[in-house]
Amino acid sequence: MPAVSSRLPVFPWDKLEPYKATAAAHPDGIVDLSVGTPVDPVPELIRKALVAAADSPGYPTVWGTPALRDALVSWVERRLGAANVAHTNVLPVVGSKELVAWLPTQLGLGAGDRIAYPRLAYPTYEVGARLCGATPVVYDDPTELDPAGLRLLWLNSPSNPTGRVLDKDELTRIVAWAREHDVLVLSDECYLELGWEAEPVSVLHPDVCGGSYTGVVAVHSLSKRSNLAGYRAAFVAGDADVLGELLKIRKHGGMMTPAPVQAATVAALGDDTHVTEQRARYAARRTALRTALESHGFRIEHSEASLYLWATRDEPCWDTVAYLAGLGILVAPGDFYGEAGERFVRVAFTATDERVEAAVKRLG
Ligand SMILES: Cc1ncc(COP(=O)(O)O)c(C=O)c1O
Repeated sequence: MPAVSSRLPVFPWDKLEPYKATAAAHPDGIVDLSVGTPVDPVPELIRKALVAAADSPGYPTVWGTPALRDALVSWVERRLGAANVAHTNVLPVVGSKELVAWLPTQLGLGAGDRIAYPRLAYPTYEVGARLCGATPVVYDDPTELDPAGLRLLWLNSPSNPTGRVLDKDELTRIVAWAREHDVLVLSDECYLELGWEAEPVSVLHPDVCGGSYTGVVAVHSLSKRSNLAGYRAAFVAGDADVLGELLKIRKHGGMMTPAPVQAATVAALGDDTHVTEQRARYAARRTALRTALESHGFRIEHSEASLYLWATRDEPCWDTVAYLAGLGILVAPGDFYGEAGERFVRVAFTATDERVEAAVKRLG
């Protein structure tokens, strides 16, 4: 059998291991600002909901309980400003990485189809294209792409890794272009709740999509907003025809969110207090790290939203990775996200206050 994995890039994080070992040798221990995994506790009301649903002997459904669909609909209307959202406009998924990687396959895309994503991007968009045999294409401005054979357009605002936000006008222009050329827009909005110097807007906002969800799907995740990366809780919202097709395929594939996680998601989406509290933690860490990096001679670009600082010392990224590993600080090299990132590093501010303070001291 031909190895499917041979179509895929080398799993990038393996390349960071030697630098991790260097950073871990620091006498005060490693400060790991590389992967960006949440470290703060799962809010109590979410844990309680999970535990209350622990006695779930039966199979869950792919579409989720009616209570989950209600929660998704009301969050999308309340938080994204979307109007007239029905159950047919929402679908839970088992973490958004799973969706990003497998959506092109589930939609039947393959050889001859083109899938576009930002020049600097979360690597799984490319993985999803390669898994189904489609051709991956990068863009600076999607409206400059040749639409021939282009089936899927990934947007990611706020962006991983740059933290850049697309404003309402840009989103509106892109959605109009994609509709004109019959290209499905998948907007990965998993950092939408994490705007600092910008207020990220969803493609589902009526000013962007004109109140119709035709050809647009937003991807949302609870991993970052609610510290639920370990639960695998995410969902898509938008075009009912696309979601209906995905539902059919995912039913056959058994892609079900576990019942206790569905219950936890309902609790998480009904509460904004824990999101505000978590934002405050990240805001303080972001300010501390940004100030320390800038005083240390780094330049920060974009980074107006998301959980990352996109930083450079105007040198190859692996030199910066090695330099910071020598200080016991591990960051992600920019070239993990595309060649255009080869002189940047991505600094996540997802470490504990104590670890962030240690990094600040080392940079001081
Ligand atoms: C842009 C982007 N999309 C999707 C994901 C996947 O998140 P999850 O699978 O935890 O929902 C991540 C994770 O870092 C991300 O940065």
